[in-house]
Amino acid sequence: MKLLALLSLLAPMLQEAGMTSLLEKRRERGEDRLHGEGDASAVLHLGDDALSPDRHDGVIDLSDRDELADYGDQLPKVKGARLASPTKASLIQSTKPPRTPTSSPVMARPTAPGLPASRTSHGLPTCLVCVCLGSSVYCDDTDLESIPPLPQTTAYLYARFNRINRIRAGDFRGLTKLKRIDLSSNLIFSIDDDALRPLPELQELILLENQLAALPALPTAVEVLDVRLNRLQSSGIQPGAFRALEKLQFLYLADNLLDSIPGPLPLSLRSLHLQNNVIETMAGDTFCDPEEHRHTRRQLEDIRLDGNPINLSLFPSAYFCLPRLPLGRFT
Ligand SMILES: *[C@@H]1O[C@H](CO)[C@@H](O)[C@H](O)[C@H]1NC(C)=O
Repeated sequence: MKLLALLSLLAPMLQEAGMTSLLEKRRERGEDRLHGEGDASAVLHLGDDALSPDRHDGVIDLSDRDELADYGDQLPKVKGARLASPTKASLIQSTKPPRTPTSSPVMARPTAPGLPASRTSHGLPTCLVCVCLGSSVYCDDTDLESIPPLPQTTAYLYARFNRINRIRAGDFRGLTKLKRIDLSSNLIFSIDDDALRPLPELQELILLENQLAALPALPTAVEVLDVRLNRLQSSGIQPGAFRALEKLQFLYLADNLLDSIPGPLPLSLRSLHLQNNVIETMAGDTFCDPEEHRHTRRQLEDIRLDGNPINLSLFPSAYFCLPRLPLGRFT
């Protein structure tokens, strides 16, 4: 009897204690997750270092290169996660680079009081929701559903791990200083054709892990275009879409639904990643001009066609101008 009374007295306290420890556990797990991300990215980065654009130093912004590393061999897992309409956590674990402003203790928000108080869809000034540092705006993992109004001086925009689903023609209007846009791991299925084209300085366009079936018109200064892990179809790439991009060096289109190699490819191209698509065939002049046998493409030394149904042995005269054979099935 006494024991029962004691138990009923203790019950609410035990319950409360239980809740607290549960919360604590959850918090710990959150921290573990952050550490785990760092490790995973480090491994991915190391594992595929040879294929990352890092070795072409001087070409691209070196301040935050990790997410450019191509984690090719990890892709089946990532793709599986995507197809199974992933939770945010699974996306974060698979691709989040180790250094993100949200987990960095150095960058407190709000900052940069001198910048204009542009407003986001929440009705808050962009530089309160995001972190504005010099000409960089960091909006990673901030629940954005659209591109926030950006300071005129923005050169680097990071808005990864949000729920942005469209890019509209006016979203980047007048942002003539933009050099890099990174919208990895959003839900973007549509980009208005005029949204990016007018950006004169844009060098890096990172649209990794979205829902795009088609590419918009591309800005002519672009050097790195990363549209891996989308739903790109060959019909969604305009014929000649890359022809005028005379500075394009890295074209990453792996893990899409392409059934042909897009072309013509600009001579500036150094890396063409098309692994894990559904390419079955190619034209004889995809890489080399069959009429011009002295013609070479010394720059294009990194072509990936592995993970496609194409039998590369069927096109013996397609590679003579290349410094290296494409990676893929040759039997
Ligand atoms: C690929 O093409 C080559 C050359 O025609 C042929 O010998 C080989 O059997 C083909 N491989 C497959 C798996 O079809």
